[in-house]
Order: sequence, then C-alpha cells, then structure tokens
Amino acid sequence: MRKPIIAANWKMNKTLLEATSFIEQVKGEVLPKSKVDSVVCPPALFLAQLVELVKNSDLEISAQNMHFEESGAFTGEISPKALEDIGVKYVIIGHSERREMFNETDETVNKKVLAAFNYHLTPIVCVGETLQQYEKGETKRIVGSQVKMAFAGLTEQQVKQAIIAYEPIWAIGTGKSSTAKAANEVCGYIRRVVAEQFSKEAAESIRIQYGGSVKPENIKEFMSEPNIDGALVGGASLEAQSFLQLLEAGCNG
Ligand code: 13P
Repeated sequence: MRKPIIAANWKMNKTLLEATSFIEQVKGEVLPKSKVDSVVCPPALFLAQLVELVKNSDLEISAQNMHFEESGAFTGEISPKALEDIGVKYVIIGHSERREMFNETDETVNKKVLAAFNYHLTPIVCVGETLQQYEKGETKRIVGSQVKMAFAGLTEQQVKQAIIAYEPIWAIGTGKSSTAKAANEVCGYIRRVVAEQFSKEAAESIRIQYGGSVKPENIKEFMSEPNIDGALVGGASLEAQSFLQLLEAGCNG
C-alpha cells in the first residue's frame, strides 16, 4: 500500500510570523506520520526556522525549488546541499509556475531531480498540460513526455521513492478542478509510462498526487481514486484549519 502524501504549497505567501503561527497551530493536530505524510512547502526564507519548529512532530518541510548545482556563482539561487544540511526532506521541482515564468525546461527539471537524489531530498516532480493542450486532447502525450524527461538517468530505486504531482495548469488557482475520474485516468497513464521506462514495481511504488483547486470539500473524491495517492494544494492550504481539514477529509474520511 502506498502511504498518502498531502503537501501544502504556500507559493510566495506569508510572513515569518504567519508561517510560524501556522506551524504552531497545526503541528500537534496532524495525523501520525505512519498514516500520512503531511508536508508544508514554505517560501525558502523560512525553511531553516520551520524545520526546527517541526522537530519531533509529524510534519515535514519541503522547499519549493532549488538549483541543480551545489554551489557557485548563481546569485539568488538555492543550493541542494544547503537544503539537505538544514534538514529539509522534500523539494518541489518543475512546478508549472516555474516552467512558465522562470524558464524551467524538461532538461533543468531532470538535472534538479538527479541533484535532489544526490542530496537525499525527495523530489515532488510537477507535470501538467495547459488549457490549450487539454482542449486539443494532448494531455497524455505532454504529461508522458514530461515524466520521461524528468526521470531520465534515474535508477529504479530512486523512481520508487520519487513523488509526481499531476497538476493540470488550467485547474491551478482557478477553482475549476479536474474531475476525480479524469485525474485518475491521467495518473494511471503516468504509471504505465513509469512501468515502460523502469518497471512494474516502480510504477506501483511511486506516489502520484493530484493538484489544482483541491479543497477540503473535494479532496476525498480525489483520494478515493486508485491511482491518486495524495494532493498538492495551493490556496486551500494557507489557513491552518483548512490544512487540517484537508488531512482529515483526505485520509480519515
Ligand atoms: P491551487 O490549489 O491554489 O489551485 O494551487 C495548486 C498548486 O499549484 C499547488 O502546487
């Protein structure tokens, strides 16, 4: 059985005080780690402090991005080595906002995924189609190729530990989520791609999240689908009570 993983992607939101107060409200209330991985992805500025705050709790901290080099002349970038050093466990890679606004490509995504494993970080690799691609019926072709490129050069063992987040771009921040059935079909297709590229065991082990307008009211529908193991949530993860409701409805309901 794959353990569910629910992650709060805060994007560029919250001040330090807002971030720490969220963690204080949530950390004693989340479900046990044995049941679900509960992950918070704050802005990079707060990572070190939040890692300290969640020690001895069932919460874990993820970065939202990083560079693929460990050090050097990359002004403003985040080193994977430094993330490992402060105790970060996960890193989101290739979010569509980074692909669209910060020129990330399938090649840089692949380099970052390889670097994540070099520094013992679990990558949450984002894939998803644009509205135009969706309307043209190109979803599977696009998502399949994003997955293949992201995982090039990985070992089967690494793929088993990776997380994929399927986030249709037209569903992000729009309030217009995919249907659970359609999302499940794409996630099932992603498993077939992983099975072809690596093995059936890798396809069965890898955890796949759905993201895009997930809310406490609809998370259960997604989590009930056989190929969906979790959610990557933006807007509805910003309030402590809403995040707790997502965990409760997604994993206990
Ligand atoms: P929303 O939940 O706000 O649609 O954002 C989804 C997302 O991009 C998570 O990474």
